[in-house]
Amino acid sequence: MKIVILDFGSQYTQLIARRIREIGVYAEIVPYYKKIDGKDIAGIILSGSPASIYDNDAPVIGDEIFSFGVPVLGICYGMQIITDKFSGEIVPTNKREYGPAQIIVDRNDQLIDKNMQNTTVWMSHGDIIKKLPDSFEAVAHTQNSPYAVIRNRSKNIWAIQFHPEVVHTQKGKQLLENFARKICSITDMWNMENFIDRSIASIKQKVKNNKVICAVSGGIDSTVVALLVHKAIGDNLIPVFVNNGLLRANESEHVIESFKKLNIELQYADAEDDFLNALKDVSDPEQKRKIIGHVFVDVFTNVAEKFKDAKFLAQGTLYPDVIESVSVKGPSAVIKSHHNVGGLPEKLDFKLIEPLRELFKDEVRLLGEKLGLSEEFINRQPFPGPGLAIRIIGDITKDKLGILQKADSIVLQEVKKYGIYNDLWQSFAVLLPINSVGVMGDKRTYENVVAVRAVESADGMTADWAHLPYDLLEKISSRIINEVNGVNRVVFDVSSKPPSTIEWE
Ligand code: XMP
Repeated sequence: MKIVILDFGSQYTQLIARRIREIGVYAEIVPYYKKIDGKDIAGIILSGSPASIYDNDAPVIGDEIFSFGVPVLGICYGMQIITDKFSGEIVPTNKREYGPAQIIVDRNDQLIDKNMQNTTVWMSHGDIIKKLPDSFEAVAHTQNSPYAVIRNRSKNIWAIQFHPEVVHTQKGKQLLENFARKICSITDMWNMENFIDRSIASIKQKVKNNKVICAVSGGIDSTVVALLVHKAIGDNLIPVFVNNGLLRANESEHVIESFKKLNIELQYADAEDDFLNALKDVSDPEQKRKIIGHVFVDVFTNVAEKFKDAKFLAQGTLYPDVIESVSVKGPSAVIKSHHNVGGLPEKLDFKLIEPLRELFKDEVRLLGEKLGLSEEFINRQPFPGPGLAIRIIGDITKDKLGILQKADSIVLQEVKKYGIYNDLWQSFAVLLPINSVGVMGDKRTYENVVAVRAVESADGMTADWAHLPYDLLEKISSRIINEVNGVNRVVFDVSSKPPSTIEWE
């Protein structure tokens, strides 16, 4: 049994699903305009929205949601939809209520009990209920919201003005747990152990005795897919690692070594020259991404053709990639065409298996841990598919790659040594397309400039430049200038996203 979250476009919709899964209940996000049929659904949550119920194009839902007989919980905009549906009245306030409020519980209820009395809840809304719909009653209020929690017990409907999914709502998780366990009566436990069991059984049943090909990049998603599929079908898994020559120093050796340790035989394609030849004299970032995508498909196809009996392709698609959602498509998706192996299935006529399709990134990390990956591997900072190609501004040569690999590994070594690697979303070096004048010994130099980039972020959609300590910056700078031939200047990037992006290209 699961909870369905109808998404009206709130920035917090994914958070609602994650919180509910943390409780051990399976939750899925569905866009508000999709018809749902009530099957296997134990409860429905209506999310918040940036819209106002008064907008001309305000998102609406059909009446069927209230006819399945399963409990419904409206959050913020979801509360307004419910009020509107049952002929209550909503009015815009002249002052948007944003931030913390104290909740006063007026009567005992399964959703919000007296334990939550006087705890902090997080408000973010412009409209409020002026008149409750008939047969609804108030359960709790705050100073500015007389109807902070309302219910209609006979219809099994609850609605709340605040956001239980954000951490600022002290007992928010408890409230969602009350909804799932007490009101929707869900007893199933959704956790990683039974996810692994279910997933292995379903891969076995789907694949039978056929072979499965899988592209591994050394990143967490593809490694976890390979491990999971290997657990299900053993050596019928054929993992393929294409070395595009654009990886960090020693990275390809590291990938090969770690699969050896796991006793999984890896197909290795050293395609550095193919990539570098195709990228010769190319400076445009999007062009680089496209070329890398095409060469990857070609090299992978060549390897795959050796395994004619492979019928399936396993991919590390994650839940945020598949949610057809009003809210999850952040600006990054549009601004940079993110390279992934999306072109493969059409070209190769494989059937797809995507064992991580249901999971959020933090759940993949947990899964990796359960499958035996080290904490160090699991907590690695993200690395973009096109690799160092989008960190060498301008055209790419083998010499430039060598310079950047050295500078990059110094940044990582020093950030780790300082103990802040895990606090940063990413920290890396960028090779700029200019030379600057310097003086080394008695000689004038005219050499490359390296930029150091370090950002803090929760999801890569927005990011703040990290205020690295001066002594760390000094260490990084002096090591790069002293140890990397061809670099005589290091600069630090102090721009946040937006308006800048994390990568320079
Ligand atoms: P931006 O530069 O768009 O980056 O702020 C956001 C996050 O996405 C990563 N990134 C990429 N990842 N292929 C990838 O697989 C790409 O083409 C790509 N471009 C950016 C970036 O490293 C950051 O974590």
